[in-house]
Amino acid sequence: MVRVGIVGVGFMGMVHYLTYQKLNGVEVTAICSRTEKRRQGDWRGIQGNFGPPGTAMDLSGITTYESINEMLQDPKVDVIDITLPPALHAEIAIRALKAGKHVFCEKPISLQLRESEEMIAAAKGSGKQLTIGHVLPFFPEYIWAREAIDSGRYGRLLGGTFRRVISDPAWLSDYWNAERIGGPMLDLHVHDAHFIRAMFGMPDQVTTSGRMRGDLAEYWTSQFQFADRSLAVTANSGVIRQQGRSFLHGFEIHLEQATLTFEFSVLAQEGKYTCAPVLIGPGDKVSFPELGNGDPMLAFEAELQEVVTGIRSGTPAPLLEAELARDAVLLCHKQTESLREGKSVRIG
Ligand SMILES: NC(=O)c1ccc[n+]([C@@H]2O[C@H](COP(=O)([O-])OP(=O)(O)OC[C@H]3O[C@@H](n4cnc5c(N)ncnc54)[C@H](O)[C@@H]3O)[C@@H](O)[C@H]2O)c1
Repeated sequence: MVRVGIVGVGFMGMVHYLTYQKLNGVEVTAICSRTEKRRQGDWRGIQGNFGPPGTAMDLSGITTYESINEMLQDPKVDVIDITLPPALHAEIAIRALKAGKHVFCEKPISLQLRESEEMIAAAKGSGKQLTIGHVLPFFPEYIWAREAIDSGRYGRLLGGTFRRVISDPAWLSDYWNAERIGGPMLDLHVHDAHFIRAMFGMPDQVTTSGRMRGDLAEYWTSQFQFADRSLAVTANSGVIRQQGRSFLHGFEIHLEQATLTFEFSVLAQEGKYTCAPVLIGPGDKVSFPELGNGDPMLAFEAELQEVVTGIRSGTPAPLLEAELARDAVLLCHKQTESLREGKSVRIG
């Protein structure tokens, strides 16, 4: 049995907690929160943009801690699951690894590259696993894309365009704080940066244009260049000011013999495909794959199952590896640099 201690009981802490209940071979043995009512199971008021609302939880059988230091001493915890704001990831992850715990940490690995490297070094030094919660590859549309790419069924990958746009989360006071959340580049687009890095390899140059808000990217389009100059990969992401469409994501992926495309939006609080998944090709064929009901909670099930399997087998899932997450943060920083300076920026 893999025994998990969750630190940070907010939106993601609750999503992870509920998800672990559905998996075999894992149990939540400890929870750490600085808030007493959360430690007592009053999770009302926890809110996110999917999943069930927070409710009263029965935490009997689970040890609750106010202090992370005490939880790190708990021999009944094998893995520390960090669902704290990004600015706290590095410090807690490094302490947990040094205490001999595996770490699974929400994305982004850190807001800072130097901290990401320190986390990776701490994992290497401890011999424990450090995996990062990049859940996007476990969404059905992205599983579909991965399968199409990895199988080689439609020939070589030629490129793609990736979109992720939200309405301004004006209720999050720290959203535009570079030290705490990092705005839409590190909070939102980092998902696509990770997917692009995983599917295409590391770009060697990026050109980004768009608008800034203060020191942070607000809305932009990036073109990535790779050693293979024939790869055409772009991303469009950021924030719009109208609240009517709180979320949009999608892609168009080009392979030699097929193009895959979809777009999903939340319009007036209702999530729907604004372009249902379409497979164009081979030849003049067009088909509409059925990819399930699109419940994001299922993606977390698939993701956390990989975390548990990785710990049980001793080999972390490649898509959750910390190095990939570090590269995604590097790509984000390079895009902001390109946008700010108005020129192409080399990577690496
Ligand atoms: N994978 C995804 O789709 C996804 C979605 C949302 C958030 N996230 C990530 O999950 C992480 C948490 O985001 P969230 O939306 O759950 O945030 P949240 O604000 O809902 O929860 C964070 C929790 O951390 C606690 N906390 C804050 N500062 C603390 C401190 N100094 N000491 C102890 N506890 C503290 C807060 O009280 C809160 O309970 C972030 O890294 C975010 O990027 C990922």
